[in-house]
Amino acid sequence: MKTFLLTAAALLLSLTVSAQTLTSPDGNLEMVFGLSETGVPHYSLTCKGKSVINESRLGYTFKPAYVFDEGFELIDTEFNESDTVWQPVLGENKDIRDHHKELFVALRQKSTGWLLNLRFRLFDDGLGFRYEFPVQDELRHVIVKEESTEFRLTGDHKAFWLPADFDTNEFPTTTSKLSEVDSLTSEVRKEVLAAHAPAPCLAVQTPLMLKSEDGLYINIHEAALVNYPAMHLALDDRNFVLSALLAPNRNGDKVFFQTGYTSPWRTIVVSDDARDILASNLILNLNDPCKIEDTSWIKPVKYVGVWWEYFVGGGSTWSYTDNQDIIIGQTDYTKLKPHGRHGANTRHVKDYIDFAAEHGFDAVLVEGWNEGWEDNFAYHKEVMYSFTKAYPDFDVEELQRYAASKGVFLIMHHETTSSVAEYERHMHEAFQFMNRYGYPAVKTGYVGRIIPRSEYHDGQWMVNHYNRVARTAADYHIMVNSHEAVRPTGYSRTYPNWIAQESARGTEFESFKGNRPDHCTILPFTRLMGGPMDYTPGIFEGDLSVYGSNKAKLSSTLVKQLALYVTMYSPLQMAADLKENYEKYPDAFQFIKDVACDWDQSWILEAEPGDYITIARKAKGQDEWFAGAITDENARTATLDLSFLPAGKKFTATIYADGKDASWNENPKSYRICTKKVLTEI
Ligand code: NOJ
Ligand code: CA
Repeated sequence: MKTFLLTAAALLLSLTVSAQTLTSPDGNLEMVFGLSETGVPHYSLTCKGKSVINESRLGYTFKPAYVFDEGFELIDTEFNESDTVWQPVLGENKDIRDHHKELFVALRQKSTGWLLNLRFRLFDDGLGFRYEFPVQDELRHVIVKEESTEFRLTGDHKAFWLPADFDTNEFPTTTSKLSEVDSLTSEVRKEVLAAHAPAPCLAVQTPLMLKSEDGLYINIHEAALVNYPAMHLALDDRNFVLSALLAPNRNGDKVFFQTGYTSPWRTIVVSDDARDILASNLILNLNDPCKIEDTSWIKPVKYVGVWWEYFVGGGSTWSYTDNQDIIIGQTDYTKLKPHGRHGANTRHVKDYIDFAAEHGFDAVLVEGWNEGWEDNFAYHKEVMYSFTKAYPDFDVEELQRYAASKGVFLIMHHETTSSVAEYERHMHEAFQFMNRYGYPAVKTGYVGRIIPRSEYHDGQWMVNHYNRVARTAADYHIMVNSHEAVRPTGYSRTYPNWIAQESARGTEFESFKGNRPDHCTILPFTRLMGGPMDYTPGIFEGDLSVYGSNKAKLSSTLVKQLALYVTMYSPLQMAADLKENYEKYPDAFQFIKDVACDWDQSWILEAEPGDYITIARKAKGQDEWFAGAITDENARTATLDLSFLPAGKKFTATIYADGKDASWNENPKSYRICTKKVLTEI
């Protein structure tokens, strides 16, 4: 009898220890945390009773050889609920609700006595969890060998994936079953993965979008990537297990940290309705609130630029001369012979300022204004560009005066070609230069391998760099649009001056090999989950052969280019085409002039990754609504439910639609514009 009682007590204890259940506020999601018999922490997730993530391991391995994902005992748990509303400085919605239930778990590894805390937050649309390392005497400095986090999926889901590559995310998305993922296609990637994964493996990038056979849409990514490398996912394509694969530092170590530290959040957004994935604010909600006190200088920006002309093959270039023997700081450009094709010359920039002012744009981006572009694709010099010296034909003071007189500002360009240590050395003087000459925004660039240490673009060292640039820029009241940086994770909530990023294949790729027609029906489910993209839409002349040598063609109708301003959320939007092309189609151009890029509210009306997206949004502080609908290569009719409009009112709808004979590859420029009266029901 006594023995039986003891056994029952022990059983009870082990049950209590091994199962902590958290339910989402609406009751649809359930997360279970537990410890296995050998003290391995694990979690699982269900949505409306369907399994999303089967029991999956949590923890770490540290260097030189510490296993920190087993042998734990539970010390404490705490349950909490929080329901608040906050306002982003710029965003898709004026008010964002953060309603979640939280489970905090304190663990101790029995053999070492080291402490590890886990924090789970379960929202109606998904789960976030992170590791927290309290300050402790016995564990101070940590070198992470690998994070053990797993995502054990329930089957061979359809995946929208990019191959893992710690240096770039500018890949076309492949849509395939997980069992068909083959990421070992490039030699470089093979080398990278072989060196830094436990064994050469299949691996993909996040945000990873999945669709299960039982109709669940699942998005795996991370939130608040700070002082930590980006997470890629190694794939066991037989058992459908994804495991964290952190981008390494150059010597192969993954993370260096001191205790008193938290990891980024691992995020799983899930629903049986694809629209909920696009409507999710989970990643923003898991980031810290804004740390900039006065945000009055952070504004939505619609801009044109001296830019697309460099891609279309019309002769215009970033460089001023053909002379490649330039040494920045020593070469006197006024003594060199210009080649006569330099795009960023004062007269041409003034034309764009005039155009911007005439059509109501906020700004003009000018690339190729500064010394150093002669050798820009060589990537072998540590000092590539000056960030404070303009080419002789670019008159900084005169352009400042001229732009201000027209009510327009110039966007600075800092291409670093990844000479990052050099950029950090010059960052303050570069930002001071911008303050002096009235530039409130900068586009940064990280083309090529990181100099001097060949760190990876996605490693901890570079993540710290990008974040430091955003924070430092905030001190100078400068907005940042980074290109080729690690993909975003919602950190723009904390530093909203980091107004947009590229970090995927943007329009520029249309001028190289082209993006597929389904590209922009996928990006909102992948790249845009972490934050806005400077996609640079608005190309009206999609046949680049008209410029001469470039034979590329856009995979989009002209009207789809308009719809992207609504479907690809960004508070920074470019009208990317040459101004002459807008002058040819003034009626269609009117849409780009009118469309807002900061919103009171957004409604995802229709969505299926890879197929179509329809979104409606209300302009911030205006009684104006915009809707955009896009499809892939298949023609489609969208029926819009206008019930998002206020009831019992009259509206005028201006409809920009593909012409009846339009097609993305044969007849992209056919469009029709009409107006209709709309009366909403009371
Ligand atoms: C790549 C960027 O994505 C593009 O926008 C820029 O013009 C070039 N680098 C040059 O900096
Ligand atoms: Ca790029």
